[in-house]
Amino acid sequence: MKHNPFAFFAIPLFFSFVLAGCQKKQQVTEFQLTSPNGKLEVTVSLNERGEPLYAVQYDGQSVITPSGLGMELQGQKPLKSGFEVVEVREEAIEERWTMPWGEQREVENDYAHLMVGLRETEMPRRILNLHFKAYDEGVAFRYEIPEQEGLDTVIITDEHSEFGLTGNHTCWWIPGDWDIYEHNYQETPFLEIDAVAMNGNTNLAQTYIPENAVNTPVTMRTESGLHLSFHEANLTDYPGMTLKVDTENMAWVSELVGSERTGYKALKVVPFVTPWRTVQIAERAGDLIESTLILNLNEPNQLGDVSYVKPMKYMGIWWGMHLGKNSWDTWQKDADGYPLEGKPYNGTHGATTEEAKRYIDFAAAHGIGGLLVEGWNVGWERWIGFDDREGVFDFVTPYPDYDIEEVVRYGKEKGVEIIMHHETSAAVTTYDEQLDTAFALMQALGLHAVKTGYVGKIIPRGEYHHGQWMVNHYRRVLDTAAKYGVAVNAHEPIKATGIRRTYPNAIAREGLRGQEFNAWSSEGGNKVDHPVTVAFTRMLAGPIDYTPGVFNLMLDGYKENNRVRSTLAQQLALYVVFYSPIQMACDLPEHYLTESGETHPMFAFIEEVAVDWEESRVINGEVGDFVTITRHERNGDRWFLGSITDENARNLTVSLDFLDPEQSYTATIYADGDGADWESNPYSWSIDTISVSAVDSLQIRLAPGGGQAVVFEPRL
Ligand code: NOJ
Ligand code: CA
Repeated sequence: MKHNPFAFFAIPLFFSFVLAGCQKKQQVTEFQLTSPNGKLEVTVSLNERGEPLYAVQYDGQSVITPSGLGMELQGQKPLKSGFEVVEVREEAIEERWTMPWGEQREVENDYAHLMVGLRETEMPRRILNLHFKAYDEGVAFRYEIPEQEGLDTVIITDEHSEFGLTGNHTCWWIPGDWDIYEHNYQETPFLEIDAVAMNGNTNLAQTYIPENAVNTPVTMRTESGLHLSFHEANLTDYPGMTLKVDTENMAWVSELVGSERTGYKALKVVPFVTPWRTVQIAERAGDLIESTLILNLNEPNQLGDVSYVKPMKYMGIWWGMHLGKNSWDTWQKDADGYPLEGKPYNGTHGATTEEAKRYIDFAAAHGIGGLLVEGWNVGWERWIGFDDREGVFDFVTPYPDYDIEEVVRYGKEKGVEIIMHHETSAAVTTYDEQLDTAFALMQALGLHAVKTGYVGKIIPRGEYHHGQWMVNHYRRVLDTAAKYGVAVNAHEPIKATGIRRTYPNAIAREGLRGQEFNAWSSEGGNKVDHPVTVAFTRMLAGPIDYTPGVFNLMLDGYKENNRVRSTLAQQLALYVVFYSPIQMACDLPEHYLTESGETHPMFAFIEEVAVDWEESRVINGEVGDFVTITRHERNGDRWFLGSITDENARNLTVSLDFLDPEQSYTATIYADGDGADWESNPYSWSIDTISVSAVDSLQIRLAPGGGQAVVFEPRL
């Protein structure tokens, strides 16, 4: 037995053999690694050219065909071939850990770990260690360049991780944009992926799709019905990975995000490890969502006590700007958009002291714990469209009509915490320079959550949102925020790769085409099947700040050509389907009232729904079609259920066997009403209350573009 370096609480079974000294051709050139339940098998081998390969089998069928591994380093020959095996180690780990907040409380982390140590047989005899982990739910691998003579700092110009496919799988993908993930998901066979055609999207303030590659997670279904999703875990000090389509070999090949400023992909100091490259495998589509593989591949909590991270619902002085009711800045402008000298007030500024108090009153009356206030600080008058953005945003100085101390004080009095907002306009150095003062202000005000934003091309020029330089910036923000007891919800972020395990102040992020596109995208809004596709793709990476809860679905009074393509009941179901520890009730307070001024009866679900979970289960679902998820609240006995569909109406039968068998429950069902249809009748709703228990089934009727949300409350 050897002390296990990878886990805090673990039972390692360990064997190791060192082949050092064997400088001749290796006898042992193939190694097998099997997952704890024996279903999943990884084969790692060296071919006659000394090139490392891996292959994956699930339940006896090939899932990843023999696929190459390696990388290219500047000024050196590629680190890809001419290897012999000098060391092999294997261990079995069983770890249990607790999420401070999350989709579930307890997490099992059981896997088999294989390290294959390679050394070049010829000069310069460099060493490369390959790590594989086999879980019951998938496989992960990473590269390690250990300490060795003659290798101090390396410049990685490319990584060649291949994922050979067994067929022309159906893929749900977004393009491998180096600057943004806010694209529509496409459903095509692998061989028909055309990411480059998605260049030039006019709804995006920045976009760059250099080749036929996708961003991850990319989800697939094989002809035999297996579900796969490829992604990465623990993206630290390294560029994000896109996956290039290799039609000739029917394989994905890693393509790291680069930088025109530096001309390389990554600069690394030896020793180092890369992020994990992950392959999730599931028979049921829903098992992809239930998997904790990405989280488990990250290091344990480094922040210790994060009790300042408070899962909550929040409202925002926000949707008004997207609808065009309000402006972020205060100024009157000339025809070119420049602030008019001597005209500092335009009459539409959203973030005023008075408006903030109106929102606080509404939130307090409905048990909503947070209020995001965008447009509170000077700089917005030179935001979108301005080229010279460096030094413009100031993260400590409010506009004169926003009394930040008074708003925070009033919020505290009413039990509503203000969520700070830092739009950087992608002028990243300006933000870096102010990080400490910005977070110190939050600390002084007693605020614990910030939403950040990075709209626009990155300054310094030539860097991309998903490159190594920005990955390090996003981490610096998390690090600094943690020192001041602040949790971060990043928009235009780097993708989620499970870092929230290590930094539990990484509460949520955007990183997808969010709800806000409904207000202003040129296509008139998100597609009807967008949410149900997101649940099986983007959501596998981690919490989503999607901002559900639109009640004025037609955007009446604001946007003639845009709308939300869902029913009212689907808006409620999204609070359960999409996981986030912070969930917005995004609409204007007045839109949550009926014509007679009463709170809309359907709003009761938003008041009720929990945001922190003991346990979550995906009951049914198919990628892009429908999904039903149930979650058990933490520190309480209620279960919540959300079910959503695409443009097709559906009848689903759901067994309630997740409920406590000893208990009977009152189920309050917020459903699509008679004749509901996202297109022709989105507002039709119904609320029913019935008694149920674990032996019952629930018949769920979903309208086209519809949904259903249910609260199960134990009867006394
Ligand atoms: C883009 C974000 O996604 C949005 O939520 C925010 O309102 C604007 N940037 C301004 O920061
Ligand atoms: Ca955005």
